[in-house]
Amino acid sequence: MSDWKRVCAIGDLVDKDLKEFDIDGTRIVVTRSGADVFAYPLRCPHMDEPLSSGMCDGATVTCSFHLWQWDLRTGESTGEAEIDLLIYPTKQEDGALFVDVSNVLSYD
Ligand code: FES
Repeated sequence: MSDWKRVCAIGDLVDKDLKEFDIDGTRIVVTRSGADVFAYPLRCPHMDEPLSSGMCDGATVTCSFHLWQWDLRTGESTGEAEIDLLIYPTKQEDGALFVDVSNVLSYD
């Protein structure tokens, strides 16, 4: 079952910016990379630091604290990260971004 929540207008997202939102008490980071938009938990799975202070390059996000990296399309590590990153489903409708924080993407 999906639980889509409107997050913001797509036009409010600056390319490669990492923007923090609170969705009914779940704190997330949203990153835009061209036409793609990704959403994932605020807290790094390594030591709980905020990923909103990280860096985005294409579909790769890097935590600024110990430089773990993930592919935002899958949540899989692209470097030394030992734990995958949860990725929330997103959709774009009528110029707005919607995120479902009750689900995570699965590529099994
Ligand atoms: S807290 Fe993010 S890589 Fe260590």
